[in-house]
Amino acid sequence: TGDTTVDIGFVNTASCNSAITYIDGDAGILRYRGYPIEQLAEKSNFIETSYLLIYGELPSTAELEDFTERIRQHTMLHEDLKAFFNGFPRDAHPMPVLSSAVSALGTFYQDSLDPFDKEHVEISTIRLLAKLPTIAAYAYKKSIGQPFLYPDNELSLTENFLRMTFGVPATNYDIDPDMVKALDQLLILHADHEQNCSTSTVRLVGSAHANLFNSVSAGIHALSGPLHGGANSAVLEMLDGILETGGDVDTFVKKVKNKEDGVKLMGFGHRVYKNYDPRAAIIKKTTDSILGKDGVRDPLLDIALQLEQRALEDDYFIERKLYPNVDFYTGLIYKAMGFPTKMFTVLFAMGRLPGWIAQWREMIEDPETKIGRPRQIYTGATERDYTAISGR
Ligand code: CMC
Repeated sequence: TGDTTVDIGFVNTASCNSAITYIDGDAGILRYRGYPIEQLAEKSNFIETSYLLIYGELPSTAELEDFTERIRQHTMLHEDLKAFFNGFPRDAHPMPVLSSAVSALGTFYQDSLDPFDKEHVEISTIRLLAKLPTIAAYAYKKSIGQPFLYPDNELSLTENFLRMTFGVPATNYDIDPDMVKALDQLLILHADHEQNCSTSTVRLVGSAHANLFNSVSAGIHALSGPLHGGANSAVLEMLDGILETGGDVDTFVKKVKNKEDGVKLMGFGHRVYKNYDPRAAIIKKTTDSILGKDGVRDPLLDIALQLEQRALEDDYFIERKLYPNVDFYTGLIYKAMGFPTKMFTVLFAMGRLPGWIAQWREMIEDPETKIGRPRQIYTGATERDYTAISGR
């Protein structure tokens, strides 16, 4: 229409009203349902934060127990879904395995997929929260040829995930409480971030009344891109590359500034934050404690610290307000925990799941929601007549 304006990348376009997450990008503020991320990261746990995001309030003791128990009852996968993992090549990237398995998961619950039936939405919420860690662990086990471990419901969600990922049936797996705490905190920090690319995808797909499983599956695909969640593995690959070429940070920064081969400083920059990403500030502290734990210091950490310092003093980054984002230090922690690079974005997906669910539910419940259907400014040919192939 005549008054349609184009907004490439939706830089200035709000797609919805939302009461879930608040960001002030200039001040570096992030709050879930009004609670500062710093307080949640220090005092809450992932299950409680998931409850907060989805239902809007912190739970009472009874509500939290009930929520935890309902999740606990649904951690196993249908045995037939286990067979699904065999359809992928051994070296398949776990992100498409994860998103495919989430779509497939919905097919096991075909009688409870109605987006407008509150009970269906509720059970789908619980199933997704309970089963995504199991799916993620199985995707990993498949990639290294180890047997799948059933969940152990004596354990918390995070403990269970670590055991199913790193444990084997032949021996006991000793759960390291520091690792559980660090992972739980990372999941909290990733749990929501208002209308980012994957969340907007979940909402857009859901706006066509696609079910929760399919909407979340689409979100996982969006997250896999290196400009979004895939940045956490791209950071590690970048640091590895710098180390392999002798650790020359200056040459790398020059390349970035000259935009040689489109090289970017991965883990830097953000559409909304024009200040230090508050999540990165928290994660940097965790990096110090986890990476110094056994007295072993990863040489990649030194490169990351040098890169950050070098960038923060450089006019290119200062002028463009580019600061470390959530992905800059997470990869180093995941690596120290024993995760291969391929799994980093899967961990992001596990963290973001409650946010996707909360946003999808808010969208479905909002009477003002319409199917997402952007317009365009047409730039193609004007009308012309078809010519026969012999005359072209
Ligand atoms: N390294 C070098 N230059 C950069 C970077 C970077 N990481 N990020 C932005 N710029 C430059 C960009 O080239 C542009 O320069 P110019 O004005 O000369 O053309 C300017 O800064 C503005 O950038 P933009 O691309 O217009 O900004 P955007 O809001 O469209 O993109 C971003 C945001 C996150 C995609 C981008 O900063 C980026 O690609 N960063 C690296 C990937 C990354 O770390 N992604 C994770 C984001 S946070 C978590 C998540 O969403 O998953």
